[in-house]
Amino acid sequence: MLKGKHIILGISGGIAAYKSVSLLRLLVKAGAEVQVVITPSGKEFITPVTLSALSGKPVVSEFFTANSGEWHSHVDLGLWADAMVIAPATASSIAKMANGVADNMLITTYLSAKAPVFIAPAMDLDMMAHPSTKRNIELLKSYGNHIIEPAEGELASHLIGKGRMEEPEEIVKYLSRFFASQQDLKGQNVLITAGPTYEKIDPVRFIGNYSSGKMGYAIAEEVARRGANVTLVSGPVSITTKVPNINVIKVESAREMHEQCLKAFPNCNLGIMCAAIADYAPAEYVDAKIKREKDGIPVIKLIKNPDIAASLGQIKKDGQKLIGFALETNNEESNAVDKLKRKNLDYIILNSLQDDGAGFGTDTNKITIYGKNGEKIPFGLKTKSAVAKDIIDTII
Ligand code: PMT
Repeated sequence: MLKGKHIILGISGGIAAYKSVSLLRLLVKAGAEVQVVITPSGKEFITPVTLSALSGKPVVSEFFTANSGEWHSHVDLGLWADAMVIAPATASSIAKMANGVADNMLITTYLSAKAPVFIAPAMDLDMMAHPSTKRNIELLKSYGNHIIEPAEGELASHLIGKGRMEEPEEIVKYLSRFFASQQDLKGQNVLITAGPTYEKIDPVRFIGNYSSGKMGYAIAEEVARRGANVTLVSGPVSITTKVPNINVIKVESAREMHEQCLKAFPNCNLGIMCAAIADYAPAEYVDAKIKREKDGIPVIKLIKNPDIAASLGQIKKDGQKLIGFALETNNEESNAVDKLKRKNLDYIILNSLQDDGAGFGTDTNKITIYGKNGEKIPFGLKTKSAVAKDIIDTII
C-alpha cells in the first residue's frame, strides 16, 4: 500500500524522536519515498545526518539553506506529498498546528499540505491530559486530520500514563490501512473524456475551444489513485499524467472521440464526460491551405457532430453510471437539468463561466452536482484536484 507513496515525515522536538528513525526505516522499506522535515528543537534529539542517510534525501529544517540561500518551498512539498505524518507531535507543535502559528518549516509545510495528515502525539501524561492540549487535538480533528492516539505506558519522566508515541510498526499499519481504504474503486473500469476537440477546416485551421484538459485529467488521476483502471480519451492538450493505471487515448475530432468512447464504454462501470466537444464540424475538409488572396472570404458550412454523452446514455445498461458536465453562461440550472434528462445521465456537474475561477483553463473550479433523483449539491471554489475528489465521493 505504501509503495511509491510520497510521505513527509515531520519530526518535532520530543524524546520520542528516537522512534522516528525506526518509522523512517519502515516507511522506506515499504517502498515509500520519504522527505523528512524536522523542527529546530527536533534536531536536539536526533541528527539530520542519520535521517538523511536513511531517507536518501537532504533533511529540510530551515526556510533556506544558510550557505547557498536555496529556498525550501513548503508549498511544493505540500503538493508533492500523498500523506504527511508528524511523529512525534509535541504539545507545542500540536498547539501551533491547531492555531496556525507558522514559525518553523514543519508548521508551514503542515499548513500547505493538500494530502491527509496523520499526527502521532507524544508527551508527558499531564501535558496530554491538559485541557489546552485536549482542545487543540479536537481542533486538529475538526480540520480533518487523523490523530494516531498515544499509548499508555512508562514515559520519559518514568511516570506511567497516556502519552507514549504509538510504535512505528503500528503507525505504518495505520497508514497502510488508510491507503487501502482509499482503494474504493479497485477493479472498476472507468471511461473519462477530457480536453477540447479540434474540427479541421484545412491543414492549418480548426474549430476548437479553450478546454485545457485540467479538469478531466484531475478526475482521471483521482479515479486511478482510488484503484480503478482508467481509459482517458483525451482531445489535444499540452498536459500529461504520470499516474499509473491510466490508458490515455489521444484523439483530435469529436468523431474520433465518439468512436473510442463507443468501443470502451460497454466494458466500463462508469463514464465521466468532461471533454468540451465541438457541437459542429466543417462539412468539408479543404486539403490545401485556404488562401485569402485567391479564395476570398470562405463560407464554411457546418454539420452536427455526434453527441457522445447522449449516445452512451442510449446504450447504458443496468449497473453502469454515466456522468456529464454542463458548461453554461446563463440559465445554468435549467440548462444543466435539461441535459441530465436528455442524455440519460445519472449526474451532471454544472460549472458556469459566470463564476470567477471556474471553467476553462483555470486550476480551480466551482461546481454544483445535480442527480437524476433531484439531488442538488453545491460546492465552493476549489482546486480541480479537490473538485475531482468531491465528484467521486459524491457519485460513489
Ligand atoms: O479542460 P478545462 O480547461 O479544465 O475545463 C474544464 C471544462 C470547463 C471543459 C469542464 O469542466 C466542462 O464543463 N466540460 C464540459 C464542457 C461542455 O462541452 O459542456 P456542454 O454543456 O456543451 O456539454 C454537456 C455534456 O455533453 C458534456 O458532458 C459534454 O462532454 C457532452 N457532449 C457535448 C457535446 C457533444 N457533441 N457530445 C457530448 O458528449
